Amino acid sequence: MREIRNIVILTGAGISAESGVATFRGPDGLWEGHRVEDVATPEAFTRDPGLVQAFYDARRAKLKGVEPNAAHRALARLDAEWPGDLLIVTQNVDDLHERAGAERVLHMHGELRSAWCLACDGRSRWEAPLGDGPACPACGAQGRMRPDIVWFGEMPYEMDRIEAALVEADLFVSIGTSGAVYPAAGYVQTARYRGAQTLEMNLEPSQGSYFFHESRIGRAGDLVPAWVEEMLG
Ligand code: OAD
Repeated sequence: MREIRNIVILTGAGISAESGVATFRGPDGLWEGHRVEDVATPEAFTRDPGLVQAFYDARRAKLKGVEPNAAHRALARLDAEWPGDLLIVTQNVDDLHERAGAERVLHMHGELRSAWCLACDGRSRWEAPLGDGPACPACGAQGRMRPDIVWFGEMPYEMDRIEAALVEADLFVSIGTSGAVYPAAGYVQTARYRGAQTLEMNLEPSQGSYFFHESRIGRAGDLVPAWVEEMLG
């Protein structure tokens, strides 16, 4: 086994579950009562912008009532103390990694606390609702801001940076993701092909579980702090 210096960590909804943020694929297959196609596609936004804005306004408002958990805090500690390269690639649109103190974080599916103006193409930090059609702080256009979320059929953010980190990775770790959504679901194969060790931590085996050298099954709040202790110990 080669020495571990560069680490890429992919996180999904499961890492925020113990903070009280709903995962995308609930037992009923719905996301907070909605089909993903009805709230997370550009077509849905064109068809019913009011519904989509209200959905994300509710998710954004809920962030005020949740806190990072032990798994977010452990990754923030690893980020602060790991001497080599490290990148946390999250599919999550919450800001719990940052609130736990992590800095080397990249949101490949966008962020709830960001708004994207379709008039000037600018992004603004955003805490308030978007459904009432506020003016863009940059260009002043009224009612042109949408959630800065990557919807199905849109290109995830920072693909080049992620790819570059994956080919340099000695260890790829996937935490709390079902492995149902590409390109993130394929990162294990990219990293492994380039010789990285691969580890997943999830409540149940993910869809791509067989691609990993090791699977640890359990709650992120238990597994991640123990793994970080191993890495830094
Ligand atoms: P999912 O909801 O598909 O999967 C969450 C995973 O976390 C499941 O495999 C659960 O078993 C696991 N899990 C739940 N609680 C956990 C816990 N306490 N500890 C560890 N694991 C736990 O969420 P994602 O894989 O993140 O995309 O979904 C990927 C993408 O699909 C999302 O980013 C979103 C969605 O539709 C967009 O919105 C574009």
